[in-house]
Formats: sequence, C-alpha cells, structure tokens
Amino acid sequence: MTNNETIVEAKSLSKFYRLPKESLFKKPEVIKAVNDVNFKIIKGKSFGVVGESGSGKSTLARCIMGLERPTAGEVKINSVDIFSLSANELRNMRKQFQMVFQDPFGSLNPRKKILSIIAEPLDVLEKVKKNDRRSRVIDTLKSVGLKETDIEKFPHEFSGGQRQRIAIARALITKPKIIVADEPVSALDVSVQAQVLNLLQDLQDSFGVTYILISHDLAVVKFVCDDVIVMNEGKIVESGSAKEIFTNPKHEYTKTLLEAVPRF
Ligand SMILES: Nc1ncnc2c1ncn2[C@@H]1O[C@H](COP(=O)(O)OP(=O)(O)OP(=O)(O)O)[C@@H](O)[C@H]1O
Ligand SMILES: [Mg+2]
Repeated sequence: MTNNETIVEAKSLSKFYRLPKESLFKKPEVIKAVNDVNFKIIKGKSFGVVGESGSGKSTLARCIMGLERPTAGEVKINSVDIFSLSANELRNMRKQFQMVFQDPFGSLNPRKKILSIIAEPLDVLEKVKKNDRRSRVIDTLKSVGLKETDIEKFPHEFSGGQRQRIAIARALITKPKIIVADEPVSALDVSVQAQVLNLLQDLQDSFGVTYILISHDLAVVKFVCDDVIVMNEGKIVESGSAKEIFTNPKHEYTKTLLEAVPRF
C-alpha cells in the first residue's frame, strides 16, 4: 500500500519554555522540552515515541500537530512546512489529525450520550445530515467492537477499555490520516491493554492510518510500532526500527528503559 512515503518530518525541531523569574538577580530558567529533534514518519506505519516522564514526548506531539509553535526548526506534513501556513490553512491541515488521550475517564464528557461524543469531530469539521451522522457513528462504533445500541448510553455505563474504544471511535470518525495517541493504554488494566492495542493495529490494517504512539512503556511500543525514537531530556538518544532497538539497544538509557518487564 505504501512505498515508504514520508508523511511527517521534523527538522531541527526545538521547543523551549522560559519559566517565570524566581528573583530579580537570577536569569530566568529555560526548559529545553524538545531540543533539536530530527525524524521522518512513514505513511501507514506506527511511529513510537518513548522516554520517561518529562522527556518531551507530549511537547513534541503538540508541535507536530501544529498546536504549539516551535522555538526553532520545521514540521513538514506531506512536505509542507506547517508553520508557514496561514491560520486558516493550518486549521484545514489539522483535519488530518485526531488524538487519543491517556485518560478514558476524563476525556469523555459524562453528560453526553455516546452518539454525540463520537459525532463531535464530525460536527466540528464537516457538515453532515442527521441520518448520515447517526449511521457514521454506528459504523465507527461497530469498527471498534461496540454495539449499535451503545449510542444511547452514557460514558459511566462502560468499562475503562470500552471507554478507550469510544475515544478511538471518536478519533476515527473523520477518517484522519494521522492519529496521535498519547499514552492510550496506560490508564488501563494490563489485561485490557492488549485488546486496545490489537484494536489499534486492526484499524490500521483496515484504514491505513499513520500512528504516532507516545508511551513511557517500551512493552506497549514494542507491541505496536514499526519505528521508534527514544527521547531523554528533549533529545533523541536512539532511533531505528522497533525490532533493532528492542533486540539490540545501543544507548544506556534505552537499556535502562528496557529493563521494565515485557508483558505481551
Ligand atoms: N507549557 C509549558 N510550560 C513550561 N514548561 C513546560 C510546558 N509544557 C511542558 N513543559 C516542560 O517540558 C518538559 C517536557 O514535558 P512533556 O509534557 O513534553 O513531557 P512528557 O515526556 O510528555 O512527560 P509525561 O510522560 O509525564 O507525559 C517538562 O520538563 C515539562 O515540565
Ligand atoms: Mg506527556
């Protein structure tokens, strides 16, 4: 399906945060959340970003999605430098992206029924007729293994794993080219994690979506990803195919991360 076509490219990408001055006499502290990062993501593949808490994973994701302007460097989506776009063009470009977040409890509005939760990106990005809207929600819900009758329910009527399926359905409904999943299974029981990760893979096989999967958990990334970068203090310390990195880690930091017990 793909011929190693690059869909996302980061070139010398940096994002620094300047913290408020603690006193008149000290220089303000600068946090180099992302520091001179370079990589390419191949269309239709899964790209893993690993690293411990604070290593810059989420900041990197926000820059890639054009939600934050980098301090330096470029993000190219299909060869277009997204920060050279007008606000309008950037908004259009963002239609290609959807996100799945860590917390399947906090990310779904408890007062809304599943129908309107899943339809939300459709309502924002496309104008669809009421009947089409409903049937698209039902189709998407079925594709993540839930039932038609679930559209009338509220989030509290589902388990954590089911809620994450709902979050994934919401991300899929506009048929995005790229899904950024930031710790999509870390809030779930280990037994449910594998189910959700399997689902992500099945959906990739059917829809050809590109994933950017962020995790502090190497076992999760090993299970899903084709290519991986390992981040530490804003820098990429190692990159390559998941297979290479997990069988033959070169960097001490990666070795330390790998000491976590593989589960799947
Ligand atoms: N808006 C901000 N203002 C100031 N500092 C920030 C901001 N966002 C992130 N940081 C800092 O940048 C660094 C990287 O944060 P980031 O959230 O990208 O890490 P992460 O790898 O996603 O961590 P986690 O695994 O805990 O989610 C951290 O030191 C963080 O405190
Ligand atoms: Mg994060």
